[in-house]
Amino acid sequence: MPRHLVTSALPYINGVKHLGNLVGSMLPADVYARYLRLRGEDVLFICATDEHGTPAELAALEEGLDVAEYCRRQHAVQKQLGEAFHLSWEHFGRSSSSQNKELTQHFARRLDAEGFIEERTIEQVYSVDDGRFLPDRYIIGTCPHCGYEAARGDQCENCTRLLDPTDLINPRSAVSGSTNLELRESRHLYFKQSLLAGEIRDWIDTQNDWPVLVTSIAYKWLDEGLMDRGITRDLSWGVPVDRPGYEDKVFYVWFDAPIEYIGSTKEWADLDPERRDWKSWWYDADDVTYTQFMAKDNVPFHTVSFPASIIGTRKPWKLVSYIKGFNWLNYYGGKFSTSRGVGVFMNDAIELLPADYWRYYLMANAPESDDSNFTWEGFATAINKDLADTFGNFVNRCLTFTRRSVGSSVPGGGIAGDAERELVTELEKRLRAYTDNLDAKQFRKATAELRALWAAGNAYWERAEPWKAVKADPEQAAVILRTGVNLVRFFSLLALPIIPETAGDVLSRIAPDVPARWPTDVAAELEALGPGAPFEVPEVLYRKITDDDIEAWRSRFGGEAEARATD
Ligand code: 2FM
Ligand code: ZN
Repeated sequence: MPRHLVTSALPYINGVKHLGNLVGSMLPADVYARYLRLRGEDVLFICATDEHGTPAELAALEEGLDVAEYCRRQHAVQKQLGEAFHLSWEHFGRSSSSQNKELTQHFARRLDAEGFIEERTIEQVYSVDDGRFLPDRYIIGTCPHCGYEAARGDQCENCTRLLDPTDLINPRSAVSGSTNLELRESRHLYFKQSLLAGEIRDWIDTQNDWPVLVTSIAYKWLDEGLMDRGITRDLSWGVPVDRPGYEDKVFYVWFDAPIEYIGSTKEWADLDPERRDWKSWWYDADDVTYTQFMAKDNVPFHTVSFPASIIGTRKPWKLVSYIKGFNWLNYYGGKFSTSRGVGVFMNDAIELLPADYWRYYLMANAPESDDSNFTWEGFATAINKDLADTFGNFVNRCLTFTRRSVGSSVPGGGIAGDAERELVTELEKRLRAYTDNLDAKQFRKATAELRALWAAGNAYWERAEPWKAVKADPEQAAVILRTGVNLVRFFSLLALPIIPETAGDVLSRIAPDVPARWPTDVAAELEALGPGAPFEVPEVLYRKITDDDIEAWRSRFGGEAEARATD
């Protein structure tokens, strides 16, 4: 049986992620993994925290914690939040794991053995008072072009010009403010990925079904000329470089982070080695379809750099089969920003409302063909109109009316007629569209189809007028009510990938013993719960978002003005 490996870009360890991070990688990966599992596929959904690099070190410093302890705590926070959003990872690992260390070192050794690694000596800024080399972005000073006083050594935020740290006037350390800086020589490992540019281009050329967003970014990088890349850094926090003379160095975070997709799989397998085999997912794994989810800023690393690390080993490590890239979710037209605290973060969101509200809204507004915009007004419309008025209302009106009319079990009697046959024809068409969109990983369109399926249920109920039939024609009424209860089950089943909590709750009340499997035969689904099948009526599924809520949340999280001001 073919297998499906699904990964979402690994969230940085420093700080709780915002809704933009969630919609751009973790959530769609989860929806897809859930959908595949319902189809009966063998799925392994892997994620992890991306823990190395200077930002983690500095965040730990700020909190007065040892960096390893900081990462341990933040990993626990992110794991718990992911679970609260029902992200159904098989494993949520850590790039600082021993498994990733071994694999990262193994990859570097293989690349070296194949002639892709070279030592180079470069000059770098050393901060005498901090006792460390400083990465370019941790040197600040005055921009020689525009005079901005807090320009970073890699780029001026004010005039956006790219800089070299030596361009800065009055350079100082961003860590301590010290101006006691000097240039020192340091030896580093370079990955000669330029030698692989042709092979990577050939490989991208064969990916005809990938989104243009993804291939166009890959070609842009390749067209600009693939640069050899320094894969070591003068830092203490990271995967150690197992090579004489490199005792004080670690691998560059972007070298070890994607290898953690494999590392996290090994972490998962090591928890139950009798039954789990990590390597069969990654090595000589022709039966595995591997799908990656990420926002567009990550695409270069996944179309070019990581594939170069894989191809350069000259061993059959698994290359990605399909990359789903996302544009940005903006907040009132401005950027969500972790550093400036603009927008809605996962911890705040889950405190306000249950996960399904966010999951539904984000999938209905996924930034696929273009950037999309989070607004509280848009959020309220999606929740009130789609979740509450369309799905929630259908579930409640159908089950409540049936219970009131015939009691808490599916009524027998009557024979389905033209109305039901027409309904089946429409649902078949829409189910095909919904399934096709999920297969194509078009989440926004898929969610629109789900909404249309729910709306078709409401329209049937209105047309059938069961409230008249119960008085005039009990046999006819039995057919409508039976169809209605089965529609509730059918719609909940289809909603499971997107809103697993509420759809799962409905299913547990009306069909606890019928296995949740992706439906294919609509007519059969509408007979799945036969005469006598008991059901319970759930509480109202979704609360409506009021104008007062919108106002309160806008002032708490900032609306238009704040987002623009910090843009
Ligand atoms: O952009 C980010 O959030 C990175 N931490 C993604 C890393 S993905 C993978 F390569 F590890
Ligand atoms: Zn400038």
